[in-house]
Amino acid sequence: MEFVFDIHKIFLEPITKLDGNLLPIRRPLISSSEAQKQIMTVIDEIGKASAKAQRLPAPITSASRMQTNPHHLYILKDCTPKTAGRGVVIGFLKVGYKKLFVLDHTGSHIEAEPLCILDFYIHESLQRNGFGKELFTLMLRTEQVEPQHLAIDRPSEKFLSFLRKHYNLRSTIPQVNNFVVFDGFFRDRKAPGRKLQPKRAEGEIKPYSLSERDFLKQEEGLPWPFSQAQSSLNRAGSLGSSPTRAGPRFIPGEDDFVKSLRSCRPHSLHRAANGEQEDPTQRRRTSGR
Ligand code: ACO
Repeated sequence: MEFVFDIHKIFLEPITKLDGNLLPIRRPLISSSEAQKQIMTVIDEIGKASAKAQRLPAPITSASRMQTNPHHLYILKDCTPKTAGRGVVIGFLKVGYKKLFVLDHTGSHIEAEPLCILDFYIHESLQRNGFGKELFTLMLRTEQVEPQHLAIDRPSEKFLSFLRKHYNLRSTIPQVNNFVVFDGFFRDRKAPGRKLQPKRAEGEIKPYSLSERDFLKQEEGLPWPFSQAQSSLNRAGSLGSSPTRAGPRFIPGEDDFVKSLRSCRPHSLHRAANGEQEDPTQRRRTSGR
């Protein structure tokens, strides 16, 4: 994804980590206010591209949502000599902590606050080149989390395949909310979940936790996967065979500049990336909206 301004002046590292203040730890080479404006444009555009790729009716990642939610955004840019011009954004990964009620293997509700994968996108022309893995690996190291301890907000088929391939995450623990958790979710956690007391009235338990996608309100309030079933009934065949999301409908235009990146291999993880050293003061947790 290209922009009219110079990506290399706002993102000095191959992968830039952002939080709600929308300014990287390594200060941009232009004024903070100008950088923030450009970064907002980047976030809005990549958010739109991700929504189109996932066939969502509206973006779930935008600058304004970043400013109002304690999420972390990892943005991957190209850093090959070929793209020494204004630079290109390859993709992004958005994560955040959420309070969830997660079912364990016995069907008990466990109150947990896992790191959730909320949005993940690599430009269509560059998928299956290892860029997603590069972003994901850096996020895991920065957030100091094991892949099996993550909760995934309604993963797409491509993402499920990604998790199977790179992290051997296959079997899931059935949930009644929009989040997918895998076997191993409850094993060796730093902060084990809290089993809800039996005396607690069932009415106090939220039946499902709100996912990023719930604010879109396109499925009339039913949690995934029930919403998918309902939606398939309502719009016969429109979502294809995916139990999660349909494949991309929109393919952003591919120019020569982007094509030149096809051959480009993932950046080395040894390169320093801002945010790699986690600043504990920046780790804020959501209260589960
Ligand atoms: N079809 C099936 N599997 C795919 C595809 C695809 N088109 N693209 C990537 N994968 C999976 C496969 O397991 C693939 O391995 P393979 O090529 O040996 O089959 C593996 O991912 C490749 O790994 P990377 O190259 O590191 O991944 P990539 O850079 O393609 O990024 C991502 C993965 C982010 C899922 C990307 O494919 C993408 O942007 N997809 C469209 C948007 C999307 O579905 N995002 C996830 C939404 S769910 C959420 O965000 C919580």
